[in-house]
Amino acid sequence: MDSQLSDIRKEYKKGKLTRNTISENPFEQFARWLDDALHCGEDEPTAMIAATVSPDGRPSTRTVLLKGVENGRFIFFTNYESRKGRQLAANPHISLSFVWHKLERQVHIEGIAERCAPRESDAYFSTRPYKSRIGARISPQSRVIGSRMEIIRAFVKEAAKLAGQTVQRPDNWGGFAVTPTRFEFWQGRESRLHDRFRYTLREAAPVPAWTILRLAP
Ligand SMILES: Cc1cc2nc3c(=O)[nH]c(=O)nc-3n(C[C@H](O)[C@H](O)[C@H](O)COP(=O)(O)O)c2cc1C
Repeated sequence: MDSQLSDIRKEYKKGKLTRNTISENPFEQFARWLDDALHCGEDEPTAMIAATVSPDGRPSTRTVLLKGVENGRFIFFTNYESRKGRQLAANPHISLSFVWHKLERQVHIEGIAERCAPRESDAYFSTRPYKSRIGARISPQSRVIGSRMEIIRAFVKEAAKLAGQTVQRPDNWGGFAVTPTRFEFWQGRESRLHDRFRYTLREAAPVPAWTILRLAP
């Protein structure tokens, strides 16, 4: 074992989570913690690790940005033909993880991802900076390319082709909306005796009902 790495150790002392103080509604609990993360100086408070699986059950992860929580769905945007996009088309199960180091907190979410309606994706796409819109049109995300120059040439060519026009969202780019079936909220505590609460969806309709249980650290 590398002694320098194994010596890195930090006590987590910044907060606690109790059954009496957590919300009965996981979305409300998430909103509280996201709000704390947005105001505590965290570098990328909306960044989340999205895990998907291949058809033969191999997991893969990458970071994406949460762009909204709407109607009980966590929304992010990506290329539908990317590795994650293709995996979600074959198997919509997804896990999302937020880590807010400044707060010594993490949230895990598991659920089902589906494509956003085209009008939702259009609405978000139109708010993106011009260069990001061009980039989304020309990048064959996750495919092997020959060189950086190849992608820059494609970018310049597309920008010239669309000069003076509205840059439309390409069909292979848009949102995924994740409907959670499980949440876990983790607050670091001293001596590794962390607080963990799990919400599992007991009933989806007519109103979502959640079972809340404390987990061992
Ligand atoms: C902070 C951060 C934010 C990112 N946000 C996104 C995003 O919102 N959408 C996206 O497609 N890729 C985003 N990426 C890039 C992805 O992590 C990943 O490289 C890309 O989506 C391709 O993943 P895939 O090949 O597994 O599909 C982000 C990366 C970082 C580090």
